[in-house]
Parts: sequence; structure tokens; C-alpha cells
Amino acid sequence: MIPNLVSAASVLLLWFSLEACGAPTTSSTPGGLTIPLRMRSLTSGRNLTELGHIAKGQRDAVMNKYAIQPLRRKRSSGYNLIVDQQYDSGYYGSLAIGTPLTSFNVILDTGSSDLWVVGSSCGSACNGLSMFNPSSSSTFKNLTSPFTIQYGSGAAAGSIGQDVVEMAGFSVSNQGFAVVDEVTANLLSAPVSGLLGLAWGAIAASGQTPFWQTLASSGAMDSALFAVQLRRYSNASNPNALEPGGQISLGYTNSSLYTGSIDYVDISGTPSYWLLTLQSLTVQGTAITAGIGATAAIDTGTTNIAGPTDAIAAIFAQIPNSSPATGQWSGYYQYPCSTTVTVTFSFGGQSWTMSPADFMYTSISTTECIGAFFDIGSTAGSSTTPSWIIGDAFLKNVYSVFRYSPASVGFAALSDVSLAENGVNGAVPSPTIGSVAAAVSNTSGAAPRVSFGLARGVVQVIMGLLVTMTLWML
Ligand SMILES: *[C@@H]1O[C@H](CO)[C@@H](O)[C@H](O)[C@H]1NC(C)=O
Ligand SMILES: *[C@@H]1O[C@H](CO)[C@@H](O)[C@H](O)[C@H]1NC(C)=O
Ligand SMILES: *[C@@H]1O[C@H](CO)[C@@H](O)[C@H](O)[C@H]1NC(C)=O
Ligand SMILES: *[C@@H]1O[C@H](CO)[C@@H](O)[C@H](O)[C@H]1NC(C)=O
Ligand SMILES: *[C@@H]1O[C@H](CO)[C@@H](O)[C@H](O)[C@H]1NC(C)=O
Repeated sequence: MIPNLVSAASVLLLWFSLEACGAPTTSSTPGGLTIPLRMRSLTSGRNLTELGHIAKGQRDAVMNKYAIQPLRRKRSSGYNLIVDQQYDSGYYGSLAIGTPLTSFNVILDTGSSDLWVVGSSCGSACNGLSMFNPSSSSTFKNLTSPFTIQYGSGAAAGSIGQDVVEMAGFSVSNQGFAVVDEVTANLLSAPVSGLLGLAWGAIAASGQTPFWQTLASSGAMDSALFAVQLRRYSNASNPNALEPGGQISLGYTNSSLYTGSIDYVDISGTPSYWLLTLQSLTVQGTAITAGIGATAAIDTGTTNIAGPTDAIAAIFAQIPNSSPATGQWSGYYQYPCSTTVTVTFSFGGQSWTMSPADFMYTSISTTECIGAFFDIGSTAGSSTTPSWIIGDAFLKNVYSVFRYSPASVGFAALSDVSLAENGVNGAVPSPTIGSVAAAVSNTSGAAPRVSFGLARGVVQVIMGLLVTMTLWML
């Protein structure tokens, strides 16, 4: 298909170039758009060799101007290296904002949908964090709407703007995001400056289309999905506060990181969170019944696993000598550290086992440990309040794929390569933005708008015209 379309480009551009010579446009004959071509070839007096030469020159000029390479791949893909912060407490990646581009570390959060970074007007709450300075970006536009968001662990507030955002070799020219000037203590810890929401636009507090969704809906990615590998350091022998934390890939799955097939399960309801239905949960081989059939948000931005009161109680009922913890651990349970606890999950496809290392969140004495499951009350569960939040304690055990269409989450078993990367001390990856291979603008779903210098949009618009032209000329 592509080579044919590209060779048809010369015909199209010939038409453009002759059109530009001021020749009369066609009559309104239906389907008569081939007429100008015929007229020109009859009246121009030029010979075919000459015309071919002009056509080639025009094509080369346009290709160069918009940096389109012949037979260039229409779509793209890229990756970003993740950093594991504080022994699996959080996972962040990097992106760049503005003109000139400045890079920031952001929590990668599949449990929310807004992008925000702290701005230079943030006061002492942002001490020690890298801040985005809107006045030093020539492309920043203040959309002047206020922004506030509330997470389980804190809140952030500021105003909404738009600017160029680049990540993993992709660029969105007018990404909407929030510049935050108020943030509660402990929501961020240096070197993290903000958060990248990777769920669906329907739950974006800012009303802005998420970066990943703009790429997916505009066809910019080879495959409209992103995939995440999260490494484990919680039980490593000598972990540093920052360690290489895995990889997020945009537009492809990295087949070195998983084995077997990816088991996709469609998400529940209208896309909002990445919601699956919890089909079964076993503890030490025994299935619990409470909370089964309820919705579960797959959330890279949460360290542990939250569930309904009765389900959490049922889980610990399978662990002898466990009991609700108190004080700062209220909502959690304690259990004897000597007990090796294995939990398996099923969301409608395969079953996935969570390692005992992830079940054990921390020890609080020489004999007592805190489990990774905590109680978030008797939530009924709906598209706005999932009953379960499945965080990193589970996600470290699988390769996770977040697919645009059909909207689904896929899990696959970690490969030996991936498993061998757990707990290995390494240099903290520096921001990896990648050189831009694909650029789009936020058009909320439809074909990308053409924007000068944006190779992606131009390729697609030219392709679209060629298809149309080819049909007209048939
Ligand atoms: C067509 O144009 C080319 C280049 O100007 C010229 O070399 C060639 O002789 C022309 N052919 C005819 C048939 O006029
Ligand atoms: C955007 O404009 C609003 C309203 O004028 C202002 O309060 C806010 O500080 C501005 N935001 C930025 C990032 O400049
Ligand atoms: C992006 O698209 C959304 C949805 O149509 C729209 O509400 C928002 O204003 C757009 N943002 C920008 C920065 O163009
Ligand atoms: C895939 O993962 C492996 C193992 O971490 C890594 O070495 C490689 O660079 C990754 N490849 C791509 C294309 O992401
Ligand atoms: C950490 O836990 C994993 C998963 O259970 C296990 O394979 C690994 O051996 C543990 N590492 C250490 C250092 O105990």
C-alpha cells in the first residue's frame, strides 16, 4: 500500500503545482476533479519528461520541508526508563515540556488522567523540586482555568495551560496540563516534580485529553497501547533510595520482558480508570468470596492494594495470628513475618500469582509484619469509585499492557530477563525523552490537525488526500 501511495504523490503534487500556476479550477462536474489534470496536459505545451522533473522537484521539496522520508513508517514507538523510588514506594519516568524543552520527573500513574508539574510560583511546599517556569517557555499558553485534584494521598492545585510535551520519542504540540502552585506535603518527593496520568480522559480533573490518549487516538503509535514493567527492590539485599525501576513502552510491547502470550481482558464499562472485574482471589490456595465480581482499578501510582472492608478481613482470615493493625497502620493488618503468604488474582482470564515478597509490605517488629492489602471501607464500587485498587505490589509480578482499542488491560508472565532485573543495583536512568519520531496535536480523537513542522500530521493528511485523489481518479 505505502509504496503505491507514495508514488501517487507525484501525481498529486503535479496537480498542486499546476494549480498554483493560476490555471482555472474545474467546472462543478460531479467527479470531475480529474479534469484539471487533463486540461493541463493538453494545454501546457510541456513534454512529459519536463513535467516529471517538476513533479519530482516539488515532491522532494515538500518531503524535505516537512522532514518526511520516503517510505517513512507512518507510526512510531518509543520507551522511557522508569526509576524505582524508595524500595518500590513509587515509580517515576521523565518527560519534557516547553520551548526550549525542559525535562521533569513525573510519577507514572495509570490510576488518574491529569498531567501536572509544579510551577515556579509554588512556594516553600515545592522546596527542592525542579519547577516549570511558564514564562521561560515561548510556546506556553495559559488557559486560565483553575485546577484542583484530590488523591488518596494528598492534593494539588494550580491552573491549566498548554505547551509542547515530549516523551519517549513522541511530541504533542498543545498538550493541556496543570501548572501547580499548591501541593500537600509528601505527595511528591524529589527528584519528582509532578505526575503523568495514564488513565482515560473521562476522569481528567483538568478536562484535558491525556498525553497517551492523544497519541493512541490519532494513530501516532505503531500499536495503540503502552506497556509497563516494574522492578522489585523491596526485598533486595542492598537497595538504594533510587534504582532502575523498569520500562514503559509506548506503541509496542517489549517481547524480551515477558514470556507466553499477553492475556487481554476488556475493561468494565465506559473507559475512565483502567477497570477490570475481579473474578477471583485466593489466599494460600483458598478462594475468598467477599469483593469478588467488583471493579478493580489497575493503578501503577498506588504502592499497595486496597479493597473493601469485608474482603480484606476475609484475606487475613486465611492467615493465622493476623489482626487489624492500629495507630498509623490503621486500615492495615499485621501478621507473623514467618508466614509466607501467596495470593493469586484472576480478572477473567489467566490467574496471576503475587509473590510473598510483595505481600509483606514492611516489618514493624522482629516478628510482626504489615500486609500489603488495606481496607478502604465498604465501597459499593462503581465507575467513579472502584472497590479495589490494584497497585504495584501486584503489578511487579506481571508485564502489564494498557490497550486503547478494544479498551483492555493485558497481563503476561515476566520473562527470565525481566525477573533477573529485579533487585539489581544500577545507575539511576537519566531523563530519556528520545528524539521525536512522531508529533501530533490534541484534537480529541479525530485525525490530527496539520501543524507546520509536525511530520506526523502532514504525513497523515497527505496520505488522506492521496487516498481521496486515487479514488477520484479511478
Ligand atoms: C522534453 O524535454 C526535455 C527536457 O527539457 C528535452 O531534453 C527533450 O528533448 C524534450 N522532448 C521532446 C519530445 O520534446
Ligand atoms: C494563568 O492565569 C491565571 C488567571 O489570570 C493566573 O491566576 C495563573 O497564575 C496563570 N498561570 C500561569 C501558570 O501563569
Ligand atoms: C484537548 O482536547 C480536549 C477534549 O476535546 C479539550 O477539551 C481541550 O481543551 C484540548 N486541550 C487543548 C490544550 O487543546
Ligand atoms: C527491551 O527490554 C530489554 C531488557 O530490559 C532492553 O535491554 C531493551 O532495550 C528493550 N528494548 C526495547 C526496544 O524497548
Ligand atoms: C525477593 O522476592 C522474589 C519473589 O518472591 C524472590 O524470587 C527473590 O529471591 C527475593 N529476593 C531476595 C533477595 O530475597
